Amino acid sequence: MTEAAARDLDAQDPLPTSRAQFHVPPATGGDYAETAYFAGNSLGLQPIATRAALDAELDDWARLGVEGHGEAERPWVSYHQQLRDPTARLVGARPGEVVMMNSLTVNLHLMMVSFYRPTPERHAILIEDTAFPSDSYAVRSQAAFHGYDPDEAVIRLSPRPGESTLRSEDVTGWLAEHGDRVALVLLGGVNYYSGEFLDIPAITRAGHAAGAVVGWDLAHAAGNVPLRLHDWGVDWAAWCTYKYLNSGPGAIAGAFVHERHLADRSLPKLAGWWSTDPDVRFRMHPTVTPVDTADSWQLSNPPILAMAPVRASLEMFDAVGMDALRAKSIRLTGYLGTLLDETGAGRPMEVLTPREPDRRGAQLSVRLHGLDADAVSAALRTRHGVIADARRPDVIRLAPVPMYSTFHDCWRAATAMADVVSGSCAGS
Ligand SMILES: Cc1ncc(COP(=O)(O)O)c(C=O)c1O
Repeated sequence: MTEAAARDLDAQDPLPTSRAQFHVPPATGGDYAETAYFAGNSLGLQPIATRAALDAELDDWARLGVEGHGEAERPWVSYHQQLRDPTARLVGARPGEVVMMNSLTVNLHLMMVSFYRPTPERHAILIEDTAFPSDSYAVRSQAAFHGYDPDEAVIRLSPRPGESTLRSEDVTGWLAEHGDRVALVLLGGVNYYSGEFLDIPAITRAGHAAGAVVGWDLAHAAGNVPLRLHDWGVDWAAWCTYKYLNSGPGAIAGAFVHERHLADRSLPKLAGWWSTDPDVRFRMHPTVTPVDTADSWQLSNPPILAMAPVRASLEMFDAVGMDALRAKSIRLTGYLGTLLDETGAGRPMEVLTPREPDRRGAQLSVRLHGLDADAVSAALRTRHGVIADARRPDVIRLAPVPMYSTFHDCWRAATAMADVVSGSCAGS
């Protein structure tokens, strides 16, 4: 594949890139002014619209002070409600099933307060062996909090010997055989390390058939792959917005609770003044007046300056639509995969993400046999202006993000990988 062919693909693609709507960091090395940015699975790029969205709230704060709660152009007291509909569209939920609040690990814990109800007979939590460490720590601490030994209560599922990714059918098969002691299944919709997209509906069904509650960490799935959380019957989910949702470092997170749980007053919940019915919130009652929406998992008054970037980003997702983005994502990631296969032949690198488009999102994880991922990532950046993400010891993650990545970026990444892997990093 030539550079000109990559540029032609960009020119002909049915969904032109929205790159001009983002700040693309300048390159500090290589032949191009802008970086080829492949780390949107870690931190998405800043939309140009973010600054105006933040400025609007700063201006209202300057102009109105405390009155902004009711009189800001977008009143702060109900600000989070504006995020409800676009978030529901993004994750395939009914509006009352979603809420934006806190950060991801906090939401995992809040969900587990309600949905991890262990008993001596059924207290196991099923996760992936390659679960993100925060999830692993969170479930272990939940098991310990309830008085169970985390080493015994937390079950970590590994891929088959010799394979790098879990197969969804192995998860469902395991649940059919051993699920009677599982209280909670908590898996990553798209695995952070391998980029594998699990079969969420099939695993959710298998978890339910085994009598377990099924929750999903969608950090790498939200804004990356189409989701139908309501129809799939998922019990609960949580995700962050700083990756594919481009809402800034440490940005606010989301949570989903299926409608069938919303009116269940028997669920244990931690409460704060934002859990109560907004119609009576300012009457300062000593007890919560429940609302039958995901809002009832909120605790604190929402951080408006953290929500403004999410609002700006969700508008962009609404404007393009997840289905069109996913179609482009499949084209881009497929192209990158083909190029990496070509350039990888005879070189110590191998894509470990599943090949089938419906088993992956945007990210391809490349194992560098015998090479140091940090050194390769640094050389990609300094020599070629390609920003990738290293997972020690030997994996490079590359995520072409359909809103701002181009076929030309993919060409740059593949040719840079070939150069760096064959060059002086070998053996370092
Ligand atoms: C899959 C996954 N889960 C959890 C987290 C932790 O997120 P936070 O620091 O927002 O709680 C991350 C962070 O990157 C993640 O990738």
